[in-house]
Amino acid sequence: MFDLIPIAEIAPDRIETLLDAAFGTDRHGRTAYRLRDGVAAIPELSLAAVIGAELVGSIQCWPVTLADDDGARVPMVLVGPIAVSPAHQDVGIGRALTRAAIARAGQGDIAGGDALMLIGDPDYYGRFFGFTAERTGGWRLPGSFEAHRLLALGDAVPDQAGDVRPRISADAA
Ligand SMILES: CC(C)(COP(=O)(O)OP(=O)(O)OC[C@H]1O[C@@H](n2cnc3c(N)ncnc32)[C@H](O)[C@@H]1OP(=O)(O)O)[C@@H](O)C(=O)NCCC(=O)NCCS
Repeated sequence: MFDLIPIAEIAPDRIETLLDAAFGTDRHGRTAYRLRDGVAAIPELSLAAVIGAELVGSIQCWPVTLADDDGARVPMVLVGPIAVSPAHQDVGIGRALTRAAIARAGQGDIAGGDALMLIGDPDYYGRFFGFTAERTGGWRLPGSFEAHRLLALGDAVPDQAGDVRPRISADAA
C-alpha cells in the first residue's frame, strides 16, 4: 500500500528523477512547462506517493490565469505533471494522487481551485476524473498542443477565448 504526503517532504532532485523516468528527460520543452515559468507549485495541491521510503509517484499543481480577450483575468490551476514510477503503474497511484489534488482544490480556499486544467490523455483524465475539452476551444497557450488534449474540470472553468499563462502575483484574483 502507498501513502500520500506533502511533496515538500521529498528532496526536489528525487522528484526530478521520477519525472524523468515517467516522461523522459526531454520533457522540459513541453508547453505545460511554459505555463509555470516563474511561479511556484501550490503546496496544498502538490503531493508525493511513497511506499515506505520509496518515492513512487507525484503530482504538482500550479497557479495559471486565463487572460481573456475582453481584458478579464480568470484564475485557474494547472494540474500536473502527474507521474508514477514505471514499476508501480496501473495499481491506482495516479488516480489517488489526482483525486486527492482535485478534492483539496475543491475545498474553496485556493484561487482557481474550481477551474482546473491540464494537457493530457482524455482516455485517462476524462474517464477517471471528468476532465473535458468542452470549454477549452478558445484558449491559446505559449506553445503547441493538441486541442483534444487541452482539458478542464470545475464549475468556474471559463469558456471564453484568451491566453493561458503563468499567474504571477499581480494576476492573483
Ligand atoms: C498516466 C499515469 C499518471 C497513470 O497513473 P497510474 O498510477 O499508472 O494509473 P492508475 O493506476 O491510476 O490507472 C490505471 C488505469 O488507467 C489506464 N491508463 C494509464 N495511463 C493511461 C493513459 N495515458 N491513457 C489512457 N489510459 C491510461 C490504465 O490502462 C488503467 O486502466 P484499467 O484500470 O482499465 O486497467 C502513469 O501511468 C504515468 O506516470 N505514466 C507516464 C507518463 C504518461 O504517460 N503520462 C500520460 C498522461 S499525460
